Amino acid sequence: MLELRNVSFEVNDENDQNKEIIHDLSLTVDDHRFVVITGPNGGGKSTLARLIAGIEQPTSGQILMDGIDITNKSITERAQMGISFAFQQPVRFKGLQVLDLIRLAAQDKTMAPGAACEYLSAVGLCAKDYINREVNASLSGGELKRIEIATVLARKTRLSVFDEPEAGIDLWSFQNLTRIFEKMREDITDSSIIIISHQERILEIADEIVVLANGTIKQHGTKDEVLPGLIGTESAVNACERLM
Ligand SMILES: Nc1ncnc2c1ncn2[C@@H]1O[C@H](COP(=O)(O)OP(=O)(O)O)[C@@H](O)[C@H]1O
Ligand SMILES: [Mg+2]
Repeated sequence: MLELRNVSFEVNDENDQNKEIIHDLSLTVDDHRFVVITGPNGGGKSTLARLIAGIEQPTSGQILMDGIDITNKSITERAQMGISFAFQQPVRFKGLQVLDLIRLAAQDKTMAPGAACEYLSAVGLCAKDYINREVNASLSGGELKRIEIATVLARKTRLSVFDEPEAGIDLWSFQNLTRIFEKMREDITDSSIIIISHQERILEIADEIVVLANGTIKQHGTKDEVLPGLIGTESAVNACERLM
C-alpha cells in the first residue's frame, strides 16, 4: 500500500542552520495493517504524518502509494488516491454543521441525516444531539476529535493516518476512543490505518509497531516483538497516568 524510500526532511531552524528532522527513513505499510508509530516527543512522528499526507515535501527520497510515486502530489491529489489525515489538533469550521462535514467527507451532498448519524454513533456520540450542531468553539476537544474521526470513517479511505488521537481528551472519552479503534481494527477490509500514539491501550491493538526517535526508525516489528520492550517507557504510557 504505502512505501517510503530513503525519505529525509530538512528545515532551516531559527539560526538558519539546516536541521534534519527525518533521516533516510524507509518504511512499508502493507494492506490490511493497523500500524502504530510511537517514540519520544520531538522524534519526528508528526512530521512523518505530514509527509505522508503531503503537507510537507521530503528533501530527498520517495513516497509511493500502490506502487505509484506520489512524492510530488498535493494533499488533494493524495486524498483522492485514498489517503486521509486526522490532525493532532482538530480543526473547527465556522458556520458548518456536523451533517455538512460528514456529507463533505463522504462526497455525498444529499446523504440522508440518518446515514450520517451512523458515523456519529460509531464514534460514541448520540447522533441526534450533534448532527445539526455547528462545528465551533462550543464543542469540547473530545467531541471535536470524535467528529473528526467520524469524518475519516465517512471518507472510507484506503489509508487513514491519525496523529495522537488521544491528545486533549479526558479519560472517559479516551476509553471510548480505544473502542472505536478496536472496531476499526476489526473492520479493516482493503484499508490500512496508521496511528501515532503513546497509549498502551492503542499499542495493544497494533499489528505492527514502529518506534521513531531522532528522525529514524529504532524498531519495527509485530506487536509481540516490540511492545514488551516498551512497557513502562515514555513510548508506552499508561492511559490513566498520562491523562490524570
Ligand atoms: N517546520 C519546522 N521547523 C523547525 N523545526 C521543526 C519543524 N517541524 C518540526 N520541527 C522540529 O522537528 C522535531 C520533530 O517534530 P515532530 O515531528 O513534531 O515530533 P513528534 O511528533 O515526534 O513529537 C522537533 O524538534 C520539532 O521542533
Ligand atoms: Mg507530534
